[in-house]
Amino acid sequence: MSDTLNVLQPEHAILPQLAQRRSPRAYTNQPVSTETLQQLFTAAGSAASCFGEQPWRFVVGSQQSSPEAFEKIVSTLAPFNQDWAKNASAIALAVAKTTFSHDGNPNAWAKHDVGQAAATLAIQAVELGVQIHQMAGFSQDAARAAFQIPADFELVSVFTIGYPGNVDALPDALKERELAPRTRKPLGEIMFEGGWPTAQSEDYSVAKV
Ligand SMILES: Cc1cc2nc3c(=O)[nH]c(=O)nc-3n(C[C@H](O)[C@H](O)[C@H](O)COP(=O)(O)O)c2cc1C
Repeated sequence: MSDTLNVLQPEHAILPQLAQRRSPRAYTNQPVSTETLQQLFTAAGSAASCFGEQPWRFVVGSQQSSPEAFEKIVSTLAPFNQDWAKNASAIALAVAKTTFSHDGNPNAWAKHDVGQAAATLAIQAVELGVQIHQMAGFSQDAARAAFQIPADFELVSVFTIGYPGNVDALPDALKERELAPRTRKPLGEIMFEGGWPTAQSEDYSVAKV
């Protein structure tokens, strides 16, 4: 079932899955099955990457099938994230391999490519009725220690995975954030056709879009 809460109202037509993707803090207690998790991470692995390196790695914890890993990842979160993230069905730690495998040189695009993989997974999730919520609020040191992640891998983000639930179950402050209008910068602020904007063209009321 698709999530129709707080759908983005884009300036121009985009895929419905893009408009429906959001970062919920309320989840139902419906488990995300192993098959669905496998579909999600297969989608992540379909992303493009510099040199075809595929630098993304994901440590996954599921309340149902790998509860210890789930608890370990949740314990690395900042308290303001732990409060709601602990109710998701699953959680994942996104990790980037920071060197190229073919020559051992630093891969400056590794985190870019992990982000692409996460974004791709997020859209596949919407198609399957699932939503993810990415977080920077976690301890990289704690996560590295918890899973003994080698030094040439960088910890990028943590994200919850679950079926979006009833926002009334959230504390008032979080409910308010969940229902706050989802807005985006106008296209004229991010798309500069023809060149970098000048002081004059930064007047967005006259920007060409
Ligand atoms: C890299 C990254 C880090 C984020 N960190 C957090 C976080 O620590 N806690 C949180 O509640 N949301 C976090 N978010 C979620 C953003 O606040 C959210 O994506 C943004 O407000 C846009 O909302 P939307 O995803 O529903 O469109 C993060 C998102 C990204 C992509």
